[in-house]
Formats: sequence, C-alpha cells, structure tokens
Amino acid sequence: MSQHTAGLAIETVGLVKTFGETRAVDGVDLAVPTGTVYGVLGPNGAGKTTTVKMLATLLRPDGGEARVFGHDVVREADDVRGRVSLTGQYASVDEDLTGTENLVLLGRLLGHDKKAARERAAQLLEAFGLTEAAGRQIKNYSGGMRRRIDIAASILNTPDLLFLDEPTTGLDPRSRNQVWDIVRAVVAQGTTVLLTTQYLDEADQLASRIAVIDRGKVIAEGTKGELKASVGAGSVHLRLRDAEQRPEAAEVLRRTLGARVQLEPDPVALTARLGTAASDDTAAGQAARALGELARSGITVDNFSLGQPSLDEVFLALTGHDTQASRAATATTASKDEVAA
Ligand SMILES: Nc1ncnc2c1ncn2[C@@H]1O[C@H](COP(=O)(O)OP(=O)(O)OP(=O)(O)O)[C@@H](O)[C@H]1O
Ligand SMILES: [Mg+2]
Repeated sequence: MSQHTAGLAIETVGLVKTFGETRAVDGVDLAVPTGTVYGVLGPNGAGKTTTVKMLATLLRPDGGEARVFGHDVVREADDVRGRVSLTGQYASVDEDLTGTENLVLLGRLLGHDKKAARERAAQLLEAFGLTEAAGRQIKNYSGGMRRRIDIAASILNTPDLLFLDEPTTGLDPRSRNQVWDIVRAVVAQGTTVLLTTQYLDEADQLASRIAVIDRGKVIAEGTKGELKASVGAGSVHLRLRDAEQRPEAAEVLRRTLGARVQLEPDPVALTARLGTAASDDTAAGQAARALGELARSGITVDNFSLGQPSLDEVFLALTGHDTQASRAATATTASKDEVAA
C-alpha cells in the first residue's frame, strides 16, 4: 500500500499480530471512511482490541500495513498520535480527584491555559450529563458515569479519530443510550469513530459500515443493509385469532413463501423468516402475498408486523455459530417450545 486513498481515515492491508502461537489479528483489511462511525463487531477474543491498539500505535504490527489519515502507524507514529485518541489510553483519570479536577488537569497537560481548561471541562461535564457529579471524586462514580468521564477525557482536544473499544460493555440500558448519544454528538463535530463492540444492536444503532471479525479475520464487511441483505429480507411476525389454525397457517407460509417458520411460545404466534429478497420481491410484497393466501384459506390474522433481520441472524449466517447472547435466548425459546409441544 504505497498510496493513501483520499477520504479514508483508516486503511489497513493484511494487518497481522501474533502472540506466540496465537494469530490474534490474521490479515485484516479495513477501509474506514472519514467522518463516520465504523463498527468492528466480534465476539470475545476476535482480535478487536489488538487491532485498535495497532492503529493507535500502542502495539507494533507483525505484518501488513496500516495508515491513519495517510500516515503509516509504524514509520509515522508521531503523526498518527497527534490525530487520534483512545478511550482508556489516558488512564490518567485519577480516582481521588473530582470530575472537574480531572478534566481541568488533563486540559492543562494538553496545553490549555487555566481559563480555557475550566471552560472546556464545564462544557464537557454539561454535555455528558455530569454537571451534578462534577464535584464528586471519580471513585464514587457509577459504571456509566465512569465510562462517560473516560470518553470526555479522550475528547478534551477534539481528535480527528476516536477509538472506542467496547464503550458500553457492562452498562445498563439507560447508560448505554447516554453513551450512544455522546458518540453521535462526537461524530456530528466531525470526528471519525472506530467503535468495537460485541453488541449487534450497538453496531446497528451507531455504525454506517460494519466489519464483522472472528478469530482475527474479517468475515464480512459492508453497510448494515448489505450485511442484512446477505442473510435474508427479514421476518413476518403473525398473531392469529385462533390457536387451532396455527399448523395450517404455518403450512400456508411455507408453501407461499418458501419461508422457515418458527412457532413462538405464545400459541397464537408464529414467525416466518423470509428468504433473500430479489429486487422485485420486497419483504413487504412477500408479506402481502402471505396475508392474502392466509385470508383465502380462512385463517384470521389478528395482527402482523414486518421485522428487519437482526445482526444476530447475520452473525449466525456468517460464522455458522451464534453469539453468546443469542445462544442463551435460543436455549430459552427452545425449552418453551418443548413445553408448548
Ligand atoms: N498481550 C497478549 N498476550 C497474549 N495473547 C494475547 C494478548 N493480547 C491478546 N491476546 C490474544 O489475542 C486474541 C485476540 O484478543 P483481543 O483482546 O484482541 O480480542 P477482543 O476481540 O478485543 O476480545 P474482547 O471482546 O474479549 O475484548 C485472544 O486470543 C487473546 O487471548
Ligand atoms: Mg477487547
């Protein structure tokens, strides 16, 4: 890779990192457009953190090349460092200092004068919903507050590229939403974000493009829409008036759509997974056909909804194994099915 491609914040070709026998990163190619959130999605041990560390110049690659805004992460590491920030990199958030004290101190270290550092600290604390906690020591912060102050510290100087390595792992839904809002606000300011996550819905919510990695390799890359299209057009969820009509309804769906039909724990509910839609046969069109056929068969549908395929389904289709979260969910459904049967 001799030439930098305009419009790309990150470009890697054949990036490799080994730890003894482990090929933690095993030939990763990435092209991250400037000004977007790029999601790197993968399970535990996939190689996400190792990739991020190489891009942030904290680890030296064993093979391949990586450029950040055109600068080689090894030969031009200083140029890269000047433009990136990594949450947790400045592990300097001091537990014994308050939120304000931490941000002002870091601002001073970055070269702001006292007034500017105070103003920036107050602005960030406000933006991150930490004004009330500003005078409290960090050691008394909740997990969600701690994560937010970490991100605030990493964007004191608005970086061109921000690495967020699993920013919401372990947070409750409300705190996750707050972090998501922060990420959106950071991108709106023009920062490119590389976000790693194990949460499919997080990548779905935030990222414009997603690379799915598994065991050190990129196994799929594209927009959310492209990834989902490779799996299927979505699902039709139906609730019938009468549970006794469910077997016949399942048969009609199989026949008209060629769909895989799943009987839900609720005895009147069933889900048909639609196949990959041809461009002239949209999910809505397939659903309409199915509803017409059900009506002709005298089956009363109380309500129906059309669902996009989840990224869980994408992961299963791509890797042949599902994520831990969906494994747990499937196990619960299966045991309920047995009870129902
Ligand atoms: N310093 C190290 N020494 C030895 N092996 C390592 C080291 N760092 C990572 N590994 C191994 O490399 C592989 C990838 O690890 P990495 O931390 O990049 O995964 P990850 O995708 O970030 O996982 P997680 O979601 O659990 O954070 C794992 O098998 C891990 O055990
Ligand atoms: Mg990690």
